[in-house]
Amino acid sequence: MASLWPQLPLLLFVVLLPSLSYAKNTKLEEVFHWNYVDFDYPDDETCKKAKESKEFIPENNLPLGLEIWKDKLFVTVPRWKSGVPATVNYVSLKGDNKSPKLIPYPDWDSNKLPEHKLEEGNSTENGTHIISVFRLRADACDRLWVMDTGLNDVVGESEQLAQPRILIYDLHNDSLLHTYTLKQSNLKEDSFFANIIVDVDASDCSKAYAYIPDLGGYGVIVYSLEEDDSWRIKHHYFHFDPLDGNYSVGGVNFQWTDGVFSFALSPRQDDGFKTAYFHALSSTNEFAVSTRVLQNKTIATDPHNFEEFKLLGTRGPKTQSSASFFDESTGVVFYTQVNRDGVGCWNSKSKEYSPDYQGLVTSDNETFVFPNDLKVDREETVNFYIFKGATKEIIKDTVCEIQEH
Ligand SMILES: *[C@@H]1O[C@H](CO)[C@@H](O)[C@H](O)[C@H]1NC(C)=O
Ligand SMILES: *[C@@H]1O[C@H](CO)[C@@H](O)[C@H](O)[C@H]1NC(C)=O
Ligand SMILES: *[C@@H]1O[C@H](CO)[C@@H](O)[C@H](O)[C@H]1NC(C)=O
Ligand SMILES: *[C@@H]1O[C@H](CO)[C@@H](O)[C@H](O)[C@H]1NC(C)=O
Ligand SMILES: *[C@@H]1O[C@H](CO)[C@@H](O)[C@H](O)[C@H]1NC(C)=O
Ligand SMILES: *[C@@H]1O[C@H](CO)[C@@H](O)[C@H](O)[C@H]1NC(C)=O
Repeated sequence: MASLWPQLPLLLFVVLLPSLSYAKNTKLEEVFHWNYVDFDYPDDETCKKAKESKEFIPENNLPLGLEIWKDKLFVTVPRWKSGVPATVNYVSLKGDNKSPKLIPYPDWDSNKLPEHKLEEGNSTENGTHIISVFRLRADACDRLWVMDTGLNDVVGESEQLAQPRILIYDLHNDSLLHTYTLKQSNLKEDSFFANIIVDVDASDCSKAYAYIPDLGGYGVIVYSLEEDDSWRIKHHYFHFDPLDGNYSVGGVNFQWTDGVFSFALSPRQDDGFKTAYFHALSSTNEFAVSTRVLQNKTIATDPHNFEEFKLLGTRGPKTQSSASFFDESTGVVFYTQVNRDGVGCWNSKSKEYSPDYQGLVTSDNETFVFPNDLKVDREETVNFYIFKGATKEIIKDTVCEIQEH
């Protein structure tokens, strides 16, 4: 739900939906606001036809994932229901329009649903056919990593039109550089890939890894670009906590069993690896593992390495979190607060990971409602907001602000 602005590392972007009024929080500035998103059709006639044929059903389009690269803000629209014309889109950050039309990325054709189920061997026969994307990431090498779940119309007919796959685009010329289809051995019956985290340095673009949490199958898939191979890691800590699956969002009570959801990567440490902070969505605990473990297939899949994964601590009651990320400029991990309608923070320089060291940087039970999932009933009027704020500003006067001397 949140993403950093690479050029301006002090900015925190948060997408907030749905909502019925404006943010009261002065630390955040509204950037975009939609009441039903619109798409950049070539002309009005084409748009009208798409609506008539139900190829485009405005109320079924709910933006979710965000990423920023130069002046492009990528916005994903998962195909929860039918009538989503394009799942990967962007808007320009340069324009003055606060409700711009979404422009399909890399183009309209690649976002078209295929006529048939795509199978190995012909998955790109008639073009790429990106099916349904929750999140995507731009990396340090100007590539866009798109995690396509392959699952269309999740809450309706629910058709697996393609095997889950990673699509990598060159952001300079928008060409598809590589496609990697997850192996059958990576998948479980309830696998669901709503996130992707990319680990690479600009100095060595071929040595890139993607960490893909499987929130439904309670595992993590690691993909190595150099080896063009993937492996599945299991661990108890990827599961949800049965006592933390009860939610109340926007006055609606529901239960989720979502497991491992997100990895927030620290800067590279002396041993050359990063610390990956992670949590399950239906849990209030945070865990950590070195990327040294994730990246080595032998170590990662050896059950004797249970202890390599550490419990960092707990955030306290009602602190379930979906997306998280590490802000290198402040050393702070920001995370969504699904049950508290806000954004939480923890400074990695803190003495410990405990409720006392968690800040709530912003919270508003009217504007900051995060329905990370459409199992939540929603209002007739749907509004989407994207806010931005400077991370240093946001953590001011919270426990996450640690003055360095
Ligand atoms: C590709 O397009 C042709 C002609 O339109 C069609 O017959 C074929 O079924 C398509 N293949 C897939 C995998 O969609
Ligand atoms: C490719 O697509 C067609 C449909 O056009 C399908 O019948 C066929 O089984 C697919 N798979 C392969 C490997 O060709
Ligand atoms: C896009 O750029 C990459 C190199 O960054 C190159 O390999 C590829 O051929 C280019 N594609 C097009 C369509 O220009
Ligand atoms: C679940 O959440 C609802 C709404 O907050 C609350 O009323 C209920 O007591 C909770 N149930 C349990 C078992 O915690
Ligand atoms: C993975 O770890 C094993 C065991 O520690 C080690 O022997 C091997 O060299 C490592 N592989 C790589 C690619 O670093
Ligand atoms: C928001 O919180 C206030 C104060 O806790 C409460 O009075 C109000 O009913 C809440 N509104 C919603 C929509 O939950």
